[in-house]
Amino acid sequence: MTFLSIDAISKSYGQTVALDTIDMTIEAGGRTAIVGPSGSGKTTLLRIIAGFETPDSGALVLDGRTLANHAALVPAHKRGIGIVSQDGALFPHLTVADNIGFGLRKHAADRDGRIAELMEMVELDGIMAARRPHQLSGGQQQRVALARALALKPRLMLLDEPFSALDTGLRETMRRTVARVLRASGTTAILVTHDQAEALSFADQVAVLRQGRLVQFGPPRALYGKPRDRETATFLGEAILLDADIASGRAECVLGSLSVETGLKVGQATIMLRPEQIRLTAAIAGAEGPVGHVDDVEFGGGNCMVLVRIDRSDRAMPDFLSIKCVGFEIPEPGDLVQIKVHGTAHVLAD
Ligand SMILES: Nc1ncnc2c1ncn2[C@@H]1O[C@H](COP(=O)(O)OP(=O)(O)O)[C@@H](O)[C@H]1O
Ligand SMILES: [Mg+2]
Repeated sequence: MTFLSIDAISKSYGQTVALDTIDMTIEAGGRTAIVGPSGSGKTTLLRIIAGFETPDSGALVLDGRTLANHAALVPAHKRGIGIVSQDGALFPHLTVADNIGFGLRKHAADRDGRIAELMEMVELDGIMAARRPHQLSGGQQQRVALARALALKPRLMLLDEPFSALDTGLRETMRRTVARVLRASGTTAILVTHDQAEALSFADQVAVLRQGRLVQFGPPRALYGKPRDRETATFLGEAILLDADIASGRAECVLGSLSVETGLKVGQATIMLRPEQIRLTAAIAGAEGPVGHVDDVEFGGGNCMVLVRIDRSDRAMPDFLSIKCVGFEIPEPGDLVQIKVHGTAHVLAD
């Protein structure tokens, strides 16, 4: 069932088009990630949903109720929407407990109990309750911000790059905590992030924004496997992009003839392979299929980048491919390797 419907929302600031006719529907209990480069309109979209900005045109409907169109506007505090921003935006003069309990009634009998429960939910030690924000680490501050937003039992939670100031390890822990808390409370959530791993693992729907436009919207697997264009392909992960000639379900390219999904395009196009579709094995003399020489290996721990040179009799210049390999099966520079491709290549639309 559609819970939030974003219907042809546009917003400009002077000459800057921040959002250009955005359409999106979000299911109840769903988790949506919005990704896109800086300035693509992610925050503007969240602020319009939250009610801090008014769209120039379009409509916003939450659970059957119109929150905004050019005629009607429900104020932010009456929308039942929680928001956690990048910096947490805690009240510096209030203790952790008072920050979390800010929206709760002052003299409610269960106030302290509820604050304790929220602290437990976001895995904050009870001894932190009396501290002030400056006495907390970045991760702890974000937990307080999350608990404060959850205190109001929002129907929709908006998270605007809430983990971006945290270290990698902490980000992952926080992401899992947030996903678990939201799932447990059945809260629909929209997460803005510039981290592809975060988007793909957190969400059941990913929206790609660029220059105020919605470039692609769909489940993480679909976007990762079948991105529309180059930018989306490379944003969502390592991509091997090759020029190809497409005809009847085959792509002729530097790696020979690969199978592609049919019906999309014929003639010249760009195809994409994900590195996990490629296996490099020691080449045996006379073996079929494409071979190359390992030119360079960039050690990266668990994952290594292997630069493979493919010499072609019909061209003056060799082709180079960067292929990500898992650490225990990396070849050495100078090795002759066979390049095996698994699955189908994806043809980019643009
Ligand atoms: N209050 C504002 N006044 C003027 N321009 C703004 C305002 N808010 C955002 N913009 C502009 O709108 C565009 C989208 O901004 P924003 O939504 O913050 O992008 P993102 O969150 O994806 O980085 C940018 O070009 C930004 O400069
Ligand atoms: Mg932003």
